[in-house]
Amino acid sequence: MAGGQSGARLTKGLSNSFGVGGGDGPDNEQAAMDALVENGVKVAFKDIEYLVPSSKEKGKKTALLKHVGAYLLPSQMTALMGPSGSGKTTLLDLLAGRKTGGETKGEILFAAHKPTQKFLRRYTGYVEQFDTLLGMLTVQEMMMYTAELKRPVSEPYNRKKEAVGAVIEKLALESAKDTRIGNALMKGISGGQAKRVNIGIALVTNPKVLFLDEPTTGLDSYTANEVLMLVKALTSDGITICATVHSPSPCAFALFDRLVMLVRGQLVYFGDRCAAHAYFQSAVPDKGPRVAMDSGNEAEWITDVIVHVDRMGGGAALAETFNRSTLKGEGQEALEAMMKESAAVSEETLRELSVRRATVTPFWWGLRTLIKYRTTKNYQDPTFLGPRVGDKLVFAFILMSLYWGIGDKLTPDNFINITSCLFITSAFHP
Ligand SMILES: Nc1ncnc2c1ncn2[C@@H]1O[C@H](COP(=O)(O)OP(=O)(O)O)[C@@H](O)[C@H]1O
Ligand SMILES: [Mg+2]
Repeated sequence: MAGGQSGARLTKGLSNSFGVGGGDGPDNEQAAMDALVENGVKVAFKDIEYLVPSSKEKGKKTALLKHVGAYLLPSQMTALMGPSGSGKTTLLDLLAGRKTGGETKGEILFAAHKPTQKFLRRYTGYVEQFDTLLGMLTVQEMMMYTAELKRPVSEPYNRKKEAVGAVIEKLALESAKDTRIGNALMKGISGGQAKRVNIGIALVTNPKVLFLDEPTTGLDSYTANEVLMLVKALTSDGITICATVHSPSPCAFALFDRLVMLVRGQLVYFGDRCAAHAYFQSAVPDKGPRVAMDSGNEAEWITDVIVHVDRMGGGAALAETFNRSTLKGEGQEALEAMMKESAAVSEETLRELSVRRATVTPFWWGLRTLIKYRTTKNYQDPTFLGPRVGDKLVFAFILMSLYWGIGDKLTPDNFINITSCLFITSAFHP
């Protein structure tokens, strides 16, 4: 079993900062964890096709991804780029095991084995494009809420708190940790901080692979760079990172180690980020209006050229050119080697990694956490109370002002008023 010095050191570092993996499980479980941490988690995928029912022709299927193959390495940050609708989110979702519908072909390996849902839940983190935060909670409460829901129930509260503290520190959120997140009616943390909290939520379970869908969209370039720099710093823990990005600034683009580029669900580039510019310079004969206007912003230039070629109907040809390139050959060779590595991991480790240590909390614990963090806070939140209580109070007030004292007058001509008052009250009673 792998468990050399560096592995032990890394594990110690991780259990210190995240509080997971130290002393709360059987030895063999820890050994499996060691093996995983020592090598990091390589994610290799080959010939990925994703088919959904066609919206144009009944009974036919549309391929949203076509024969996509690449790999993600530990301690590296890979950019997933491509024009809007090229299949970036679809690929990220597939890798993270979040696609339930549709038909998937091809092979996806994590740490050289086919991952189970439990494995993915335990070892991967996913930061969605849109923030999913609870406005009434403070930054720390939001992370504790996630920690209590997702980390093992057996872990003491203080240990969870330490782990959350470490994440807050990593994401430079100390100054905002007691600030409420806020919502449309209540000013809270900034957009950049909200994005970092979202990333923090994914980090609370100490993932080995982190997927981020457009983590910089909607942020100004300074804040976007800040967020990406913090994400890049996570690679020093051996995490494998893949982020979709839309027109990154030169500074942000330079943070990425590798680049996966998609056009209409097809791979048009997979290789070193710094070799991409030269590749497209030579691989694309007609670069459109951007041929003479190379301003030094490589990411923008590449995207412009690709969009131009695609608009001219050359998307498939671009994929074909890449298919024939030496770059593709080199990548393919490395990918094939990675696919074969599965034989090198012992059966026992694979079994341990696939079934143990899933951070599944029981139903009663989930309910307790929900009540602890959400119920009391909800009743302080105007956006929660408004539609539930506010409208009823207003309606009751209108009814009261219309029918005040109506029951005191028991004359026949007033019966109609009494009946309507009773009818409205019972009919509209919540
Ligand atoms: N479940 C689905 N069924 C049909 N079409 C889909 C589905 N999910 C995504 N698409 C389509 O697939 C394409 C790629 O989507 P997506 O992966 O979200 O692109 P990106 O993230 O690169 O902008 C889009 O044209 C989108 O409309
Ligand atoms: Mg997307």
